[in-house]
Amino acid sequence: SRQWRGVIREYADRLDVTDATPIVTLGEGGTPLLPAPALSRRTGADVWVKFEGMNPTGSFKDRGMTMAVTKAVEAGAKVVICASTGNTSASAAAYATHAGIQAAVLVPEGKIAMGKLSQAIAHNGRLIQVQGNFDDCLDIARDLAANYPVHLVNSVNNDRIEGQKTAAFEVVEVLGDAPDFHFIPVGNAGNYTAYTRGYREDIAAGNATRLPRMFGFQAAGSAPIVRGEPVKNPETVASAIRIGNPASWELALAARDETDGYFGAIEDPKILEAQRILSAEVGIFVEPASAISVAGLLERAEAGVIPKGARVVLTVTGHGLKDPQWALRDPATGAEFAPTVVPAEVSEVASVLGL
Ligand code: F0G
Repeated sequence: SRQWRGVIREYADRLDVTDATPIVTLGEGGTPLLPAPALSRRTGADVWVKFEGMNPTGSFKDRGMTMAVTKAVEAGAKVVICASTGNTSASAAAYATHAGIQAAVLVPEGKIAMGKLSQAIAHNGRLIQVQGNFDDCLDIARDLAANYPVHLVNSVNNDRIEGQKTAAFEVVEVLGDAPDFHFIPVGNAGNYTAYTRGYREDIAAGNATRLPRMFGFQAAGSAPIVRGEPVKNPETVASAIRIGNPASWELALAARDETDGYFGAIEDPKILEAQRILSAEVGIFVEPASAISVAGLLERAEAGVIPKGARVVLTVTGHGLKDPQWALRDPATGAEFAPTVVPAEVSEVASVLGL
């Protein structure tokens, strides 16, 4: 056995790198694909969870960021820039500082989770809180990258999509082929696009025989693709996907058509219920945006769209520890999960536990 070498080295023959490329890696990728018996029982499908919270900064963004920062350094960049709802900024700051360059990150003021804010600061990012939403931040970042010597590392940069496609390779390696369905959260729709590309390339490489049906989900208060028009003031507890004008909109529609896919919207209470089911019944703790994959599966199974025994993969994109406040209440009742306080006596603890 040996140490996993990060997605660029593991998949060098399937990415645009050479022996001279200065690889910037924190060991991303190689994340667990876990069976989820509780979800299989609830849906009748054969459900697996790709746990992307296990990446170095706790989200799938690291797969794209290793590639984007590597190519930025190869091109001589000294500063990378991104707009972010939090995870991209955490990842950009970590990879940039590891490479010895600067990351400038633009985030919507007051709208990103505390864990992610802490990461951007901890990794020495130049953190700028913009008095606007994510879509405003992305407009500014794109404008700066077009007019100043800063290298854009949002998913409009194809290097990001290239790195992220490796998650599909890993799924196929574990399952032996593509699944029947792949469920995934959608913000800018970059990851939806990346998985579709990865599966398509796996068919061309002879590793897979088919594409999965790609099922993407947006929060109901932030569902431009489902509604067919941009949302001016997107709102949702799933702050990571609070995006009103997705950057990869057209690519995502093409990927949906190619895969006989689907885009759906999920109300916030259903997202939080799904987060609780995944943490309390399966043992996987994810942030709200990630739980929308689970909510989407439960909703589509209920609608009768998922045949019994169908093989289903859910990508859960970010770790629950990034945004833990939602786990402290019961989503069904709104009641706080109150800790039980006892005197420091064995008998008291035994009594509480009914022993
Ligand atoms: N899940 C999480 C946890 C995310 O952080 C994001 C995007 C998505 C899903 C959606 O992925 O944009 O490729 O459709 N977060 C970006 C960010 C916008 O800035 O961290 P997508």
